[in-house]
Amino acid sequence: VSGRLSVVGLGPGGEGLRTPLASKRLAEATDLVGYGPYLDQVGVLPAEPRRHASDNRQESARARVAIELACRGGRVAVVSSGDPGVFAMATAVVEELHRGLEERGEGGDGGAERWASIELEIIPGVTAATAAAALVGAPLGHDFCVISLSDVLKPWEVVEGRLSAAAGADFVLALYNPISSQRPWQLGRALDLIGAHRRASTPVAVVKDVGRPAEWAEVVSLDSVPVEKIDMRTVLLVGSSTTRAFVSPVGRVWMYTPRRYP
Ligand SMILES: C[S@@+](CC[C@H](N)C(=O)[O-])C[C@H]1O[C@@H](n2cnc3c(N)ncnc32)[C@H](O)[C@@H]1O
Repeated sequence: VSGRLSVVGLGPGGEGLRTPLASKRLAEATDLVGYGPYLDQVGVLPAEPRRHASDNRQESARARVAIELACRGGRVAVVSSGDPGVFAMATAVVEELHRGLEERGEGGDGGAERWASIELEIIPGVTAATAAAALVGAPLGHDFCVISLSDVLKPWEVVEGRLSAAAGADFVLALYNPISSQRPWQLGRALDLIGAHRRASTPVAVVKDVGRPAEWAEVVSLDSVPVEKIDMRTVLLVGSSTTRAFVSPVGRVWMYTPRRYP
């Protein structure tokens, strides 16, 4: 009997930004698979499933564990923060399923049929960029581009090429994975590259822990981004040439990108 494998997006933080379908799949699960902090983000469930925590860098091993559990008939939920298709687990699961089907098919042991009979579904979630945008106004109202600054899985030259091309094409930029202890200088370099195409006064939203108790957001100008306050739980939204910011009568800074392009 093959089971169901759901790759579930938890949203950025608390239950308010988790979709009802994601909550339903978590409640139905016999097994939860994921990076430890994301399993913690799930919280307590009525029928407590088995929890299989793993290190954040073990994506393909984690995907194989989940597929095997589903092959044995489990209702398995692989959890990711935000949306599982944005720099997260959905890719690893689909990739492993593809690899497994090809390898097992060649072996002729009938394993391919077993893997093929798993019911796979991806449950979308609210991604960090849109949740962060909502906190500061509507910075993603016109064309935008999502770029991860991590050079762990792609060469830094590729990151630089994409940043320059996207900044040159006047996209609003959502920057994920901005900085880490292993990648201390990349964010500064990225802001310099963007600055070659944008005014120093371009509004930038710096949003940390959106949807969580420690939520924090600030709208600053491109030449005064507080790099020292930024960590891996932060997303940056860099405005385009048309993005504007203003202070409301109660002192709140709003940022938006008009839908009309001059
Ligand atoms: C590996 S990516 C995962 C993205 C996730 N799948 C999503 O759709 O939001 C991790 C990066 O997402 C951003 N991020 C995720 N959750 C966040 C949150 N609650 N607040 C701010 N940024 C967040 C940060 O830039 C972080 O370094």
